[in-house]
Amino acid sequence: MVDPKALQYPTISFRPILPSDRQVLEKIHSDVFPIRYESEFFQNVVDGRDVISWAAVDRNRSDGLDDELIGFVTARIILSRDSEIEDLLRPSGSEQALLYILTLGVVEEYRNRGIASALVREVIKYACNLPTCQAVYLHVIAYNNPAIQLYKKLAFKCVRLLYGFYFINGQHYDAYLFVYYVNGGRSPCSPLRRLVTVMVTYIRSALKSVLGKVSKLEERWSKWPKHRDSSRCLAKSHLRRNEIIQDTDFECV
Ligand SMILES: CC(C)(COP(=O)(O)OP(=O)(O)OC[C@H]1O[C@@H](n2cnc3c(N)ncnc32)[C@H](O)[C@@H]1OP(=O)(O)O)[C@@H](O)C(=O)NCCC(=O)NCCS
Repeated sequence: MVDPKALQYPTISFRPILPSDRQVLEKIHSDVFPIRYESEFFQNVVDGRDVISWAAVDRNRSDGLDDELIGFVTARIILSRDSEIEDLLRPSGSEQALLYILTLGVVEEYRNRGIASALVREVIKYACNLPTCQAVYLHVIAYNNPAIQLYKKLAFKCVRLLYGFYFINGQHYDAYLFVYYVNGGRSPCSPLRRLVTVMVTYIRSALKSVLGKVSKLEERWSKWPKHRDSSRCLAKSHLRRNEIIQDTDFECV
């Protein structure tokens, strides 16, 4: 908890996330995100293993915690051909890369001071300096209006709506996919083709969501007679719902 008196005249500076930040990093993630991240994720962040990160700290805090994280952004380099947005990039003969934002957060007491914007600009600057990088991209849960406004303000383009992309506490949530092109990596599509691509993705994703729900219903229906009297089974499924852990993909929510 940040003492409000300690942040009257903040002096924000940015640095990489270090092993000594691990505890605070985990705490902020659990405070600001509706999903839990695996321990391996935090280890990779603090070790800089496959993850690039920036921490925001307030050098002018009067409570002595002037090197403690008050915001962060984490990102990973992904090959264009391994990404889901290859079709939205200008084709190139050589291997191209993308920067995918994994997580972004600012502690509540420091919000609306431009810190997240500055962190995302650091990511963009980094991407611009990687000659093979074509874009920065990310997913955001469809109800996260502050984050959506932030990305729009920073001139990210919303290129896709993905139905039921997130599964949190037993419920599906849609996500938007935002892209910021760098180094001339613009979409190769004409506006018409782009519209068609968006519509096809939209329909495909809606179908997938409906099929998922139908198969879940079928599964539940076929299991019901077997587990009707089992309170253990109910307790277990309740536990699972509340302990969703985001594994291999650590998308921004
Ligand atoms: C989203 C979040 C990172 C924004 O951090 P922040 O430091 O307050 O953002 P900034 O001060 O840089 O705000 C930049 C722009 O974002 C938008 N924005 C920020 N907070 C907003 C809010 N509560 N409502 C609407 N728009 C908001 C505005 O467009 C703002 O520009 P403005 O100040 O000129 O109006 C922060 O609210 C947060 O940590 N949320 C929880 C974690 C999260 O959602 N992460 C993003 C996952 S994709």
